[in-house]
Amino acid sequence: MKSGAGVRNVKRRGMSRISYVLDDPWDVQEAGFPSDAMPEDQIRFLLNYAVLAPSAHNTQPWLFRPSGDEVALLADRTRALPVSDPEDRELIMSCGAALFNLRVAIRHFGYSGEVRAFSDLRDPDLLAFVRMGRRTAEADPISDLFPCLSRRRTYRFPFEDRPVETGFSEALSRAASDEGCTLTVFEDPASKNALADLIAEGDKIQGADRSFRRELASWIHPNRSHSRDGIPGYGMGLGDLKSLTGPFVVRTFDKGRGRAARDRELAEGSPLLAVLSTAADNPASWLKAGQAMERVLLAACAGGLYASFLNQPIECPALRPRVEEITGKGVPQIILRLGPGRMVRCSPRRSVMDVLART
Ligand SMILES: Cc1cc2nc3c(=O)[nH]c(=O)nc-3n(C[C@H](O)[C@H](O)[C@H](O)COP(=O)(O)O)c2cc1C
Repeated sequence: MKSGAGVRNVKRRGMSRISYVLDDPWDVQEAGFPSDAMPEDQIRFLLNYAVLAPSAHNTQPWLFRPSGDEVALLADRTRALPVSDPEDRELIMSCGAALFNLRVAIRHFGYSGEVRAFSDLRDPDLLAFVRMGRRTAEADPISDLFPCLSRRRTYRFPFEDRPVETGFSEALSRAASDEGCTLTVFEDPASKNALADLIAEGDKIQGADRSFRRELASWIHPNRSHSRDGIPGYGMGLGDLKSLTGPFVVRTFDKGRGRAARDRELAEGSPLLAVLSTAADNPASWLKAGQAMERVLLAACAGGLYASFLNQPIECPALRPRVEEITGKGVPQIILRLGPGRMVRCSPRRSVMDVLART
C-alpha cells in the first residue's frame, strides 16, 4: 500500500471504520492483511487480490457481497459483451478467475477457504459463496501462487527467444486438471499451424463484423485515460499519440487481414500454444474453466512465462467445433499462447469499493 494513502475510510451507520479497500488494488501489500480485524474486513482486504484477475476486454464483470466470514460472488451482466460473448461464457470465466485469486489469497493467509458454487439455482447471477473457513497450517499448492497474483500480466507481444524448461507443459496441464479441466499443450509445428489457421480465420470473421468492432472499440482507451477498466492502448503496444486514435481505427476499419497475419505469426512463434477444455458447456463448467485458466496463468507466471489469449476461433460458432477436432478433448473454452517475456505495465482496475454489491 502506498503509505496507506489509498485506504478508504467508510462511514457506516454513523460510525467511521476503515474498510481495508484500496483506491488502486495493484497497491495491495501482503503486510497490510488485518489479522486482528473482523472476518468481513479481512474479506474486504482479500478482495483487492480477487479483482487483479484477468477478464475479457478488462470488463471486470464481477460483484461481491461480503457478510460475516462469507462473501457472495455475483456476475455483473451490465458489463457483458453481447457480440463477442452472447452467452456470457467468458464473463463467467472471468468471474471464475477472480474466484481463484480469492481462494489463493485466503489459503496464503492461513485459512482453509470453502467454496459453494451455484448453490442458489433460482439466481443465475449468484455464482458462488466463499467462506474464509478455519485457520489451518495444512499445505496447499495453490498458496505458492500468491506472489504471482500481482505479477501476472496479459502479454500481447512476440515472446523472447529463450527456451522453455522441458516438462513445463506437463506442470501447466496438471494445474488445469487439478481444477477439473483439461489443458492440451501444443509444442509441435504441425499442431500449432493447424490452430494458427483457425485463429487467423477467426480474426477475419470478427474483423469483418461491424458490431464486433464497435463493441471492442468501446473497451479500448487512450493511454492517458482515467478509465479504471477496458484495455489501454499501451496493452496493445500503442504509444500515447496512436492510442488516441485507437478506438476510432478499430471501430471504423476492417483490419481483420492484418490482425490475422500478426496473430498467425504470434501463434506459430509461441513456444507453447494451449487449449483449455471442459467436459460440459454450461455456467458451472465456465466457472470451473475460469478457475483452471487462472491457475494455469499463475503457474506460468511462477515459472517465468507470460501468456496472452487467442480465443477468436472459440468465439466464432462455426470454428469452435474445429478447435475441438484438433484437441480431441472436451469442449474448448480458451486458447492461450505462452512463452518468455519481460514485465509490462499493468492494466487498470476498479477499486473493491466499486464492485461491492448493494443489498
Ligand atoms: C475469458 C477471457 C478472454 C480474454 N480474451 C482475450 C482476447 O481474445 N484477446 C486479448 O488480447 N486478451 C484477452 N483477454 C485478456 C484481457 O484483455 C485482459 O485480462 C485484460 O485486459 C486485463 O489485463 P491483464 O490480464 O493484463 O490484467 C481475455 C481474458 C479473459 C479472462
